Formats: sequence, structure tokens, C-alpha cells
Amino acid sequence: MINVKDKIAVITGGMGQLGVIYSVALVEHGARVAILDLASVPKIADERFALYLEEGSIKPYVVDITNRAEVDSVSQKIKNDFGVADILINNAALDSPPDSPASEVGPFETYPELSYNKVMDVNVKGTLFCCQVFGKDMADKGCGSIINISSIYGILSPCQDLYDFRRSAGEEFFKPVAYSVSKSAILNLTRYLATYWAKSGVRVNTLTLAGVFNDQPKEFLDAYLSRMPIGRMADAEEFIGPVILLASDASSYMTGSNLVVDGGWSAW
Ligand SMILES: NC(=O)c1ccc[n+]([C@@H]2O[C@H](COP(=O)([O-])OP(=O)(O)OC[C@H]3O[C@@H](n4cnc5c(N)ncnc54)[C@H](O)[C@@H]3O)[C@@H](O)[C@H]2O)c1
Repeated sequence: MINVKDKIAVITGGMGQLGVIYSVALVEHGARVAILDLASVPKIADERFALYLEEGSIKPYVVDITNRAEVDSVSQKIKNDFGVADILINNAALDSPPDSPASEVGPFETYPELSYNKVMDVNVKGTLFCCQVFGKDMADKGCGSIINISSIYGILSPCQDLYDFRRSAGEEFFKPVAYSVSKSAILNLTRYLATYWAKSGVRVNTLTLAGVFNDQPKEFLDAYLSRMPIGRMADAEEFIGPVILLASDASSYMTGSNLVVDGGWSAW
């Protein structure tokens, strides 16, 4: 049951750190993958990803998901190239990286409106547009699985203590608010669509993830891991099982749910 053989998967942000891994895994479980991304090359070089691109089992489409006309147009192209999608993974998102300008990572009271709009546009509006366009075709076809990616910062507040080491070094650093608000919005977009499309055969679930190890600074890791029950950050490959589960018929009775894959972060 846990397979996606001959399925057509659309993944937004497929050129990113996790998108590349999901795309490779989907192909290796039998799917063909259409990537929607602003970027035309993967963030991290991956031999298998390069091979599947060459073979055509992964096909990239450069598109801005915040632009509804572009999403409409790319969906037509994907229908011509592959057919109607069976799986949609709303994975593209903006977060403020640790080296963001000071205005982005300053106090809540002065968090810039422009930054808020950018994050909400990609993380919420872009997800909504992709659901509107690809979800409609799935509903017309009578089946499909949509996976909306959230974060522990969407179900809980970020722990600002993790960044004490930056403040004690003289910076005014806070994990910004917009990412949390956007990832929280995903949870109820999922529930809304799960009930809206329940009778049409389209399942919609959230996959909530904790942080992936990516050479973070030692001070951050020490603080993070002291709070993390499982005692380590995630390896990106550990998200493949949950993605394939939600994408496949193995989760046929799951809709509107939130699958939390967080090493126990939210358990206390
Ligand atoms: N990496 C983690 O530790 C982690 C933890 C929890 C949740 N997540 C979530 O997992 C998902 C993937 O994370 P990641 O680390 O791979 O991110 P990433 O930054 O590596 O990749 C995001 C991708 O989205 C694309 N993108 C951004 N704006 C776009 C737009 N307007 N249109 C189309 N594409 C656009 C980018 O070009 C990029 O390729 C995100 O939703 C993120 O919030 C990640």
C-alpha cells in the first residue's frame, strides 16, 4: 500500500534542501515529479536528482507560486507533459535565515511589514493558489492527496532562548514572527480543504516537521538539543517515510490531520 507507483506528483520548492530529497524519493517509489520553483537548479547537488532530471522522471518548471496566472499556466503544461496530478506537496516556503539583515530578526515590535507580506505571500497565498489550481483538477478527477508542510514553529512558539548566544554576543536577534504565523495558517487551510473536498476523494493533510541538521552553530545545537527529547536534529531522509505515507493509499482514511514528525519536541 505504501507506494506511489505511476502517480504524478507536483512539489513546490522542489529545488530546496528538502524538496530535492522528496523528489528523488517519489521517483524511487514509482512516481513522476513536476517541480514548481523560482530556482532552476537544486540548492544541493545530488547525483540521483541529476539523473532523474536527465531521464525526465523529474521535470522542473520555473514559476512563482504567488502569481496565480503563472500557477494556472504551469498546471496546463504539467497536464500536457504528465497528466492531472495525483499528489501535491506544498513545500515551498520562506523563512528568515540566520544571516538575515538586522531589521528582519530584530524585536517583534519593529518587524517590517514588507517582510511579513513576503513570507505570508509565499507560505500561505502560494499554498492556497496551488491548492485552488491542482486541487480542483484532483476533485474533478475524484482522487488526490495534498500534503501541506508546516513546522513545529507553526504549532508552538519558537523558543527564543535558543538564540541567547546571539544576544549575549551583542546582536538583537529574535526568531521572527511571520514564519510562525504562516505555518500556523497552514493547519487550518488543511482542515478547511479536507472537509471541503472530503466527498470528492481529495485528502488534505499537514506534515509538521522539526529542524533538519544543516551545520548549525554549536551554541544553537547545544541549546536546541537540550530541549529535544530524541536528542538530535532530524536527518532529512527521515521525512521520506511520512511523505510517502501521506501521498499513498496507506493513509486513505487520513484527511484533515496533522502528522507531527518532530523527535518529541511538542510532547512536553
Ligand atoms: N529545513 C528545515 O529544518 C525545516 C524544518 C521544518 C519545516 N520545514 C519546512 O519544509 C519546507 C522545505 O524547507 P527547506 O529547508 O527545504 O527550504 P528551502 O529554503 O531549502 O527551499 C524552499 C524552496 O522554495 C522555493 N521558493 C521560495 N519562494 C518561492 C516562490 N514564490 N515560488 C516558487 N518557489 C519558491 C525556493 O526557491 C526554494 O527552492 C518548508 O515549507 C519549510 O518551512 C523545514
